[in-house]
Amino acid sequence: MATGVWIVGARGNVASMSMVGARAIARGEIDTTGMVTERDPVTSLDLPDIDQLVFGGHDVRTQSIEQTAQAAHEAGSVPKRETLEAVREDLREIDERVTIGTAQRCGRVVEELSDEQATEEATIRDVISQIRSDYDDFVRKQNVDRLVVVNAASTEPMIESPEQYETLADFETAIENDDRNLPASTLYAYAALVDGHPYINFTPSTGSALGGLRELADTRNVPHMGRDGKTGETLVKSALAPMFAGRNLRVLSWEGHNILGNTDGQVLEDDANAAGKLSTKGDVLESILPEIGHNRVRIDYTPSLGDWKTAWDHIHFEGFLETEMKMQFTWDGSDSALAAPLVLDLIRLAVHADEHGEGGLQPHLASFFKAPIGVDEHDFSQQLNRLYDYAERHNQVD
Ligand SMILES: NC(=O)c1ccc[n+]([C@@H]2O[C@H](COP(=O)([O-])OP(=O)(O)OC[C@H]3O[C@@H](n4cnc5c(N)ncnc54)[C@H](O)[C@@H]3O)[C@@H](O)[C@H]2O)c1
Repeated sequence: MATGVWIVGARGNVASMSMVGARAIARGEIDTTGMVTERDPVTSLDLPDIDQLVFGGHDVRTQSIEQTAQAAHEAGSVPKRETLEAVREDLREIDERVTIGTAQRCGRVVEELSDEQATEEATIRDVISQIRSDYDDFVRKQNVDRLVVVNAASTEPMIESPEQYETLADFETAIENDDRNLPASTLYAYAALVDGHPYINFTPSTGSALGGLRELADTRNVPHMGRDGKTGETLVKSALAPMFAGRNLRVLSWEGHNILGNTDGQVLEDDANAAGKLSTKGDVLESILPEIGHNRVRIDYTPSLGDWKTAWDHIHFEGFLETEMKMQFTWDGSDSALAAPLVLDLIRLAVHADEHGEGGLQPHLASFFKAPIGVDEHDFSQQLNRLYDYAERHNQVD
C-alpha cells in the first residue's frame, strides 16, 4: 500500500535529503543507519515500508530537488556521488509533483528567496482552498491510500498573540475575516487536519501548535506533532543536562554558539525568523536545570560552511566544596543528514498512529523535537522511553 508524503518546503535541504535517503534505501544503495524506527523495540511496530512512500510537496523556489541535492553534494559531499546518481531520476520525477505554495507572513528573507508564490491578492480562505485541492489532486493522481503532510519549510517569524486562536471557532473566524496575521505554516496545517491528513511540523514555525488547530485535530481524530526537529546541539544538551541534574552539580552558565552556512542559516540571520528557533532551543535547559544561572544560545550564518553546522558549547558548573569546573564540547554535524532519517521515522510513526485511530498529539514522539507540543519532559532518555513503551504496548496488544 502506497503512502503519500507531502513536504512543505520540498526543494529545501531537509526535504531533499529525506527524499534522497528514502529512494536510496528503496534502491538498496544505503542502509538505514540514523533511523530510530529501524532499531528495537520500534522495529516491532507494523510500519510502512520506505519504498512505499510517494513524495510530492509545496515550495516557493524554482530550484529543483535535484539541484538542491547536487549543490549539497558539491558543497559538503553529502550525499555521496554514487548515491545521488542512483536516485537522480527519482528526484526529477518527484520534482514534477511540487507545486507553488504560499509565503503568507513568512518574513522578508523568505519573500526575497522565493521565486513564486500564491498571489498576494488571494484571500486566506482562497489560499487554504488551493492547498486542500493540491493535497487532494496528489492523493488522487498518485492513488495513495493515505497522505502525511510534513512541514520542512523555512522558519517563519513567530505568530503575534497566539492566544487569539485558542479555539477552532476563533481560527475559523480569523479565516473568514481574512486575518493576515496567520502565517503560512498554520494554513498548511489547517488544510491537512481539516481533511484528516496527519501533520508533522519539523520546524520551529507555529504549524499545528495553536489551540484552535489542536482542537481540530482532536475533533477529527487526526495525529499531529511538532515542533522543531531535535538533531544537533539541542539533542546533545537534552542528553547531557540530566547528568548535571542527576549529580546535583550546579550549572552556573551554559553558553552555546552555533554557526551554519545553508539557506536555513541565511533565513535565521533575520531576527524575526530567528526568534522562534532561539526559543525552542532555549527552553530545553531551563526545563531540565531550572536553577541554571545563565543560558544563552546564538546562531550565526557562516556561508562557507554550507550544510555543516558547528556548535560550540561552554558549560561552567559548581560542585562540592564550592569547586568551579568547566566542560566544553564541539559538535560538527551535517544538518540535513541528521534531520532526514528522523523525517522518515516521523512519517512512518504518523501513519502507524493514523492506522490505529490514535488522533491528536503524539507524546511518544517527544524525543524527535526540541519543543514537543504538550510534553514538558525534555530529558532525551526519558522521552525515548516513551517511544519504547509505546512500541512495547502495541507489541502486546497487536
Ligand atoms: N538539522 C536540520 O537541518 C533541522 C533541524 C531542525 C529543524 N530544521 C528546520 O527545518 C526547516 C528546513 O530546513 P532546511 O535546512 O531544509 O532549510 P532550506 O532553506 O534548505 O529549505 C527550506 C525550503 O522551504 C521553502 N519554503 C520557505 N517558505 C515556504 C513556504 N511558506 N511554503 C513552501 N515552501 C517554503 C524554501 O524555498 C526552501 O526550499 C527549517 O525551518 C529548519 O529550521 C532543520
